[in-house]
Amino acid sequence: MSRHELLYLSQKEVLAAGILEMAGVIEDLENVFKVHHNKDYVLPAKTALRWGDAHSEETKGRINAMPGYVGGNINMSGIKWIGSAPQNPHKYGLPRASALIILNDPETYFPVAVLDGTIISAMRTGGVTGVAAKYLARPDSQIAGIIGAGTQNRTQLMALKESLPKLSKVKVYDLSSERAKTFAKEVTEFLGIDVQPVASGREAVEGADVIVTATTAKEPVIKAEWIDNGCFYSHVGGYESEYAVVKMASKLVVDDWYQVKHRGTPTPAIMFAEGLLEDSDIYAELGEIVTGNKNGRENENEFIYFNSIGMALEDITVAKRIYENALAKGLGTSLELWEKPLWV
Ligand SMILES: NC(=O)c1ccc[n+]([C@@H]2O[C@H](COP(=O)([O-])OP(=O)(O)OC[C@H]3O[C@@H](n4cnc5c(N)ncnc54)[C@H](O)[C@@H]3O)[C@@H](O)[C@H]2O)c1
Repeated sequence: MSRHELLYLSQKEVLAAGILEMAGVIEDLENVFKVHHNKDYVLPAKTALRWGDAHSEETKGRINAMPGYVGGNINMSGIKWIGSAPQNPHKYGLPRASALIILNDPETYFPVAVLDGTIISAMRTGGVTGVAAKYLARPDSQIAGIIGAGTQNRTQLMALKESLPKLSKVKVYDLSSERAKTFAKEVTEFLGIDVQPVASGREAVEGADVIVTATTAKEPVIKAEWIDNGCFYSHVGGYESEYAVVKMASKLVVDDWYQVKHRGTPTPAIMFAEGLLEDSDIYAELGEIVTGNKNGRENENEFIYFNSIGMALEDITVAKRIYENALAKGLGTSLELWEKPLWV
């Protein structure tokens, strides 16, 4: 028995396997952050294939290779290979990101599945904010101010709705007012929350209980003076907040500080590189809070800043569950890798 097949799952099949159920994704991610805190994983730093320095990504894009192994009860290895072309939505009406995920058997390391990773990646990015909001936002949060009317903020809102059930109003700002309008209409219908396009970042942020920035901006899109006490901020993209926003945080929380610094693009990483932030300024990694080793929000007045850089552990964990769902439902196409390996 030496024939080897792997399962190919198109985006349609990933959807049929249940990827859009955010509650399941948030559950996966709580598990990932426990594994992360217990250091039961292998996570090489992301490799960015790019056509210039880190800031060239904002105009020319990149392709990231993200390998990892997740231990605990997940026990799966794999890689996400994700292209990002910021011009795609505006120039071609296509998504910025496109991803493939390969899962590898934990014993033989043979590839067992190749999946569309585009929706998995967006869902897990939303799910991370969902986990963070559960511990770091005020549970009575009602108003969200979001900047960026792209793919990520769709899943950010799906997750916020899951973790903050009182959320009832969203203000969205995007450089493209057309995109903000379409986003507001589609998300209002899809999520049943009132989403309104607004004319500036300031209008989106002022009075918000929760802020999310998920843009391809080259310069900060939020300012400290717009932010109220008690707010929770999820920073998803690159250089999106001015330094004063980081400085005013009662708690600065990240998913993985080593990975944030290595990537170098979000505001806290830029500040660290310039000597304006120290390791000791990071209050916690999310896993420390999820496992109860550090407190999350402690009162109504804290402004809590959460910065995620994204980890392959999240993609692999969610992809594994989708792969298993697909097997159980008989979805996907079996592809032969070899009938008999040529050499052993
Ligand atoms: N932290 C993570 O784990 C993670 C995961 C996935 C994506 N991301 C990042 O999230 C960001 C958004 O991704 P997406 O898929 O939603 O992209 P997208 O291209 O679909 O949407 C980005 C939106 O930002 C808008 N924008 C750009 N500059 C702006 C500005 N100055 N002010 C207001 N709006 C502005 C664009 O017009 C666009 O509509 C990217 O930077 C991506 O790299 C992070």
